[in-house]
Amino acid sequence: MKEYIKSKIVVTPLPVLIIGTYDANGNPDAMNAAWGTQCGYEELTLLLDAAHKTTENIKLNKQFTVAIGTVDTLVLCDYFGIVSANKDSEKVEKSGAKIVKSNKINAPVIEDFPLTMECEVINIDDYKGDARITARVISVLADKKILNESGKVDYDKLRPISFDSETHTYRELGAVVGKAFHDGTALSQK
Ligand SMILES: Cc1cc2nc3c(=O)[nH]c(=O)nc-3n(C[C@H](O)[C@H](O)[C@H](O)COP(=O)(O)O)c2cc1C
Repeated sequence: MKEYIKSKIVVTPLPVLIIGTYDANGNPDAMNAAWGTQCGYEELTLLLDAAHKTTENIKLNKQFTVAIGTVDTLVLCDYFGIVSANKDSEKVEKSGAKIVKSNKINAPVIEDFPLTMECEVINIDDYKGDARITARVISVLADKKILNESGKVDYDKLRPISFDSETHTYRELGAVVGKAFHDGTALSQK
């Protein structure tokens, strides 16, 4: 028996994306974003509150990094989601994260994260006062330790986390349970 429930945020996993930006004086900022996804081979979309320092920085520079939150970086991820650089100008410094400037764009790469996308804004829409940002992924930086022998990302090594909006917890990506573009053939060959 089914019933209508109150919650409307039920698509999982919601990601833990860490958006890295510079302000007008070249100070780095980083924030945690669950409203974001990669959609297409080169593009991703984010929905950011217009009041965040990150949003101001993206509007200014039109470039930013997106790191993937992991089990090993969970505390850092949550910190970036609960402190604003608008209120604490030493937000990133206090986190202890190691920052280097990207070789390709005007945005910080946070060395603590093993997988980072370097992005350039395509479009910013106003959505009920928030900024809906579409961006092109220019390049992807990965630590060798999270790659397999073929140079692809190994998610068992990366251990990405997702945000569970029902319980306000972080969850680790689960085990492999099937083969895509393959297991359905069991029905198509009937
Ligand atoms: C788990 C989690 C997910 C979040 N997702 C978003 C999001 O998708 N969009 C958003 O605008 N803020 C989101 N936030 C809030 C920002 O990360 C937070 O307000 C942050 O302090 C903004 O930092 P800034 O002002 O330095 O940019 C999230 C926070 C947490 C803890």
